[in-house]
Amino acid sequence: MSQQQLPLISGGREKSSAAKASKSIVPVVFDSLEDARTAAMSCQACGLCQQRTNVVFCDGNPAAKLMIIGEGPGQQEDLTGLPFVGRAGQLLDKILESVGIDRKTQTYICNVVKCRPPGNRVPAPEEMERCRPFLEAQIDFIKPKLILLAGSTAVQGVLKVKEPISRLRGKWIDHPSGAKLMAVFHPSYLLRNDSREQGSPKWHMWRDIQEVRRALDLLD
Ligand code: URA
Repeated sequence: MSQQQLPLISGGREKSSAAKASKSIVPVVFDSLEDARTAAMSCQACGLCQQRTNVVFCDGNPAAKLMIIGEGPGQQEDLTGLPFVGRAGQLLDKILESVGIDRKTQTYICNVVKCRPPGNRVPAPEEMERCRPFLEAQIDFIKPKLILLAGSTAVQGVLKVKEPISRLRGKWIDHPSGAKLMAVFHPSYLLRNDSREQGSPKWHMWRDIQEVRRALDLLD
């Protein structure tokens, strides 16, 4: 069971002492991933709920060994309710396919925040914090063996560090869940940096995704 404190969310079951004091904190106990998803669908924990079309909870296979965590939904994701379906998502699919990883069956994909930040701005630290219980529930229930963090916002949201992605990427880190975690460049960054020369972001991504393939093969 994943037990989380989620501020300002509707539909919780009990009130904590903080909730009683402020009337704005409602704890949520997630008994299952479905429970977390249901809570997310009506979440009003931060201002991002006001302009969303859809809550973007996840895509892929809850039994996958590989979890991919991005920053937050963009326009296409907000419209469809699915993560990584716009241009960056299409590039992500190609990157995965290049090493024989099928997005739908072999990955579970989600974001640090589940609602689109207006104009695709970077989510604010408080927005990431308010959304954290959902992400933690996803990690708890999926129990991925490998986690990929796409871009520096995902690094900040999950690891709570502000390390430049160029320094962190490509290295396996032990996550408290027991998963091996690696940061990689965000596909949107790769779309803006087209070079494939040695040392370029795309060149690094190619090496990183091959390392992910290798690690997945070792699990089988
Ligand atoms: N970028 C992200 O980080 N996540 C998405 O779902 C789409 C684009």
